[in-house]
Amino acid sequence: MYLKTFGCQMNDADSSKIKNLMSNMNIDTTSDPKDADIILLNTCSIRWKAEHKVYSMLGTFKDIKKARPDIIIGVGGCVAQQEQDEMFRKVPHLDIVFGTHNVHRLPEMISRVQAERCKVEETNFFDRPEPLVYPAPEEDGVRAFVNIIRGCNNYCTYCIVPYVRGREASRSSAEIVDEVKSLAGCGVKEVTLLGQNVNSYGNDLGGDIGFPGLLKKVADVEGITRLRFTTSHPKDLSDGLIEAFGEIENLANHLHLPVQSGSDKVLAAMKRGYTAASYMKNVEKLRKVRPDIAISTDMIVGFPGEEDSDFQKTLALMKEVVYDSAFSFKYSVRPGTAAAKLQDAVPDDLKSERLASLQSLQKKHSIVRNEAEEGTVQMVLVEGVGRKHSSFLTGRTSGNKVVNFAGADEFVGQIVPVKITGSTANALKGEVLHLN
Ligand code: SAH
Ligand code: SF4
Ligand code: F3S
Repeated sequence: MYLKTFGCQMNDADSSKIKNLMSNMNIDTTSDPKDADIILLNTCSIRWKAEHKVYSMLGTFKDIKKARPDIIIGVGGCVAQQEQDEMFRKVPHLDIVFGTHNVHRLPEMISRVQAERCKVEETNFFDRPEPLVYPAPEEDGVRAFVNIIRGCNNYCTYCIVPYVRGREASRSSAEIVDEVKSLAGCGVKEVTLLGQNVNSYGNDLGGDIGFPGLLKKVADVEGITRLRFTTSHPKDLSDGLIEAFGEIENLANHLHLPVQSGSDKVLAAMKRGYTAASYMKNVEKLRKVRPDIAISTDMIVGFPGEEDSDFQKTLALMKEVVYDSAFSFKYSVRPGTAAAKLQDAVPDDLKSERLASLQSLQKKHSIVRNEAEEGTVQMVLVEGVGRKHSSFLTGRTSGNKVVNFAGADEFVGQIVPVKITGSTANALKGEVLHLN
């Protein structure tokens, strides 16, 4: 099997499940689609470009299918969910379309295509999370992602996710804790709890346990030295969660808190449910509890109706927060979303201009934030050997910053103290301190 994953960590987690399901069927993975009997794409439709990438990749498989008609080509994830059987019309050499709630059905779908040589599509939504398939730990074996809540109820006006992932549905805390225990038993040290809005965790379970309560339970699992979560919606960032940063020692020193815009007018048009001032208040509260916490964000430029004065407010908010890092995007119209009906589109060249100035400001801030780490000692979870030099190791600090340092591969999978000796906008450089 050749499996290519696009998009966010939810898709990475689903792809881990796919790998597990396939290995239960004695199907191995290959890195070259030409060698594969089964080609699977796990797709993303967050922006037009992401969706386009999927279709162009599928186009390249046409010749493979022609040469070997027995090969099975399947598409899952958010593009599959959005397009459903329309995909067969656009891509006639496709065999399987599986939706975001149907990953666990993949083995049966593959068997059906093998037996009947027919096209198979399953894109139904289910109210409760699908039967559990434990994802495998990441390749490095020390980190793992655990889904805690599926879907999204927020309907931010630009966003396709609620349409392609369905309504919020939380997994039971007992099931989550069991999964984390089993991962810890396999040697996993760092767990990232995943959801489009983890702060809504438990709302649909009758409110017995909220997200801060779940965090405490997971943090107590023996062997879990580092706990992360993503994503946290600013409108739902509770005082309880902020306090958790003070109470839970192994909670990583990082929060991803996507602001999208610094203009209240744009935030209202996006239906985000907070203002620049209320967002700043939360940032201040957080920094009281954890003064050196790393904060990252997502930004959208060129939302319909965004004027230069709105964009200036975004830059002003960035200057106030000084983010450690930011993902930034040009607004992309998504079919069926509320914003798709809005007038006052921002021309593409103006979007590009705004994106470039936002990114250049962020680069300055990343440099400032990373320089501030120089001279400190950071605990680094070593993920593997460097891509350029095998005598270099790479890992992450608690603040989620990449650190490169000289060292032997025996450190891989360990948490080691590293003195930070240099930095760039993207990464830190360091020297491992000798372990006693
Ligand atoms: N659930 C997360 C984010 C999910 S999507 C949250 O609420 O923050 C990841 C990021 O993609 C978003 O934060 C947003 O910045 C960006 N994004 C989503 N829809 C987009 C669109 N239509 N155009 C451009 N960027 C978009
Ligand atoms: Fe999309 Fe908003 Fe839901 Fe995030 S919270 S997934 S941006 S609708
Ligand atoms: Fe993309 Fe779907 Fe994730 S649209 S960002 S893969 S939830």
